[in-house]
Amino acid sequence: MIRALCCAALIASTVAAPSAMAAGDVENGRLQAQTCMGCHGAPGMRNAYPGYRVPKLGGQHVDYIVNALQAYKNKLRSHPTMQAQAADMSDEDMADVAAYFSSLKDIKTE
Ligand code: HEC
Repeated sequence: MIRALCCAALIASTVAAPSAMAAGDVENGRLQAQTCMGCHGAPGMRNAYPGYRVPKLGGQHVDYIVNALQAYKNKLRSHPTMQAQAADMSDEDMADVAAYFSSLKDIKTE
């Protein structure tokens, strides 16, 4: 009886896990995005150094951000800094970070 209950719980948790991870995890994305913020930082969305502008990511569409990161990772986009950033990100990291940046809709950027 105990064994049966245990297996049922195991099966339930494996079935539940993928759907919980399907959409990007904003909280995990926020942690991952600490590095990105040095350049894509809110509220100015620009680097601290003068004359070094970076694209705004806050409020951007999830798909747009993920596609851009994939393109840097696959070297379809040719910016060395962003290629290095994207190189060791997993698909899940990208989805999480994209979900986080996309959630920053209310931040005034300029
Ligand atoms: C050292 C500065 C720096 C860091 C750190 C950085 N980026 Fe970038 N990022 C840039 C610059 C500069 C560009 C513009 C590159 C280009 O012209 O292709 C860019 C472009 C992008 C783009 C494409 C935006 C667009 O509209 O084309 C995305 C998405 C992006 N970065 C996401 C991230 C994420 C996610 C992180 C953290 C994992 C990150 N970046 C870390 C400097 C940085």
